[in-house]
Amino acid sequence: MCGIVGVTGNKRSVNILLNGLKSLEYRGYDSAGIYVNDQEGHDYLVKRTGRIKNLEQAINEQGDVHGTAGIGHTRWATHGEPSEANAHPQFSNDDRFYLVHNGVIENYQQLKSEYLADVDFKSQTDTEVIVQLVDRFVVNNHMDTRSAMLKVLRLISSDSSYAFVLMDRQQPDTLFVAKNKSPLLIGLGDGYNMAGSDAMSMIKETNRFMELEDHELVIVKPDHISITSFDGEEKKRQPFTVDMDPSAADKGAYPFYMLKEIDEQPAVMRRLVSEYLPADGKPQVEDALLESMASSDHLYIIGAGTSYHAGLVAQRAFEKLTGIHTSVHISSEFAYEHPLLSEKPFFIFLSQSGETADSREVLVNVKKHQWPSLTITNVDKSTLSRESSFSMLIYAGPEIAVASTKAYTAQIAVQAILAKALGMKMGQQAAADFALKEQLAIIANGMQAITDSKDKMAEIAAHYLSKPRNAFYIGRGMDWSVALEAALKLKEISYVQAEGFASGELKHGTIALIENRTPVIGLITQDRTAGLTRSNLEETASRGAATLTIVSRHLANEDDNIVLPDVDPLLTPLLSVVPTQLLAYYTSLGKGLDVDRPRNLAKSVTVQ
Ligand code: F6R
Repeated sequence: MCGIVGVTGNKRSVNILLNGLKSLEYRGYDSAGIYVNDQEGHDYLVKRTGRIKNLEQAINEQGDVHGTAGIGHTRWATHGEPSEANAHPQFSNDDRFYLVHNGVIENYQQLKSEYLADVDFKSQTDTEVIVQLVDRFVVNNHMDTRSAMLKVLRLISSDSSYAFVLMDRQQPDTLFVAKNKSPLLIGLGDGYNMAGSDAMSMIKETNRFMELEDHELVIVKPDHISITSFDGEEKKRQPFTVDMDPSAADKGAYPFYMLKEIDEQPAVMRRLVSEYLPADGKPQVEDALLESMASSDHLYIIGAGTSYHAGLVAQRAFEKLTGIHTSVHISSEFAYEHPLLSEKPFFIFLSQSGETADSREVLVNVKKHQWPSLTITNVDKSTLSRESSFSMLIYAGPEIAVASTKAYTAQIAVQAILAKALGMKMGQQAAADFALKEQLAIIANGMQAITDSKDKMAEIAAHYLSKPRNAFYIGRGMDWSVALEAALKLKEISYVQAEGFASGELKHGTIALIENRTPVIGLITQDRTAGLTRSNLEETASRGAATLTIVSRHLANEDDNIVLPDVDPLLTPLLSVVPTQLLAYYTSLGKGLDVDRPRNLAKSVTVQ
């Protein structure tokens, strides 16, 4: 969802901006633009709808686009259709100020009618209101740009979200940077500085960053950074470095990132063993975190989409291995309506990106109450990880495809590691007996075997899933949790209307949807419910469904379609989800869709 890059003090500004925007493409966008200034009286604004390559082509066609400072943006439409007029940078009518923005200004209509009733607007965006307003205060009220920006920031309602980078043609070496709720980082170069939506958008240029907090205005010059709060208080902040290999975000020989990321799962499992489970198999987890969790009376797991699904799976490991009551909640729901909380709650945030606005909304509230929290994320120093009391990394490497795959399995594995560590800390025998290290080794090999059978998955996808409008994944307990994730994967990238159901619920209503050849895929990995799910599958088959099975080996018979290696019942999702990821991938591929960038979706959902 919207990406921002800014740079000042570098002659390669156009390239730096384009590279940064390309590395933010994965978030999803529908138009892109840059503004650059060479500080010698030349400046350029280029915007295009569609892909960054359209923007790049327009820049090349123009021939002389160059600069030493600039801002770039990928836009995912919120106010107004995708068009060149609505693309960013937005600019003031006198062509003096240029602004890129990620987020939503909730009171922009009010600002517009109160201060700018006489202004002719060129776009339908809330962003243009902000840039015209800065201009109004500078030109009419004779304020300097910094003071005008501060005044505008104070007028924006606190429920708004924004990451802003503003440029003033009259101070072309300066970026005016501010944020509230939306992600933004400062990048520190040698003789130049940057701003960007995440570390990856700047990692080709620098691995040194500086955090900026909500309600701060940062003035970025080539050789100087100054941070002040909206109340004018000066702030000092230490930079940090991020250890990230820029080439890890390359697709290599793969046609799509999603397939590469599915294939990386065995390596991620092995990496997690080496990071968290040393020789003796006793998990290495920060003791202060375990202390804090052990003194709580309820674990609340919070997440969105696939991360929420990873929480549903891990709830069982937490309860079984620690004895602490655990519940799992969708962040966008929990933020506005939650159950009566226990006396000593502990919050676990699951977020691949560490930037999801819905989850952050919950975290902001959790912090207000001074409740302890942990973020389990793939992105070091991301907003959620910085703002929670503790953080753990899932070490999955950059996940670029919009559909999350390796982050899901890594989140489940890290939660299992944490549950074991916590259970052992609390003296639970079940946790001590849980042979996680050995299990993860078996799982890594099992994942490898599944990803090696791509031809079979492609065949099943073509045969069963390419034509129908609807499909169902069914299962009970743990298998139901995976059914939800399997259905999400299929619907988001292949546009098949897929649902995950508790198989026992089918006959209470949903079975009415079964028609001739409707695909129903049964997940069967748990001893207690295997027979029941098989009966439920039979019920759909006798009403015309085309049934398929994904089954653990010890429960399999010769008619089963996909057979998985046997693993501990708490960890079966790590294997059973992999064929469903591949089925979604091949269904989407077979339909000729853009697997990595499905319509209407963004990788990092930074607005609520
Ligand atoms: C689906 C998917 C989304 C994300 C969700 C939360 O494949 O990727 O459902 O899981 O938007 O994102 P994070 O984990 O970054 O908080």
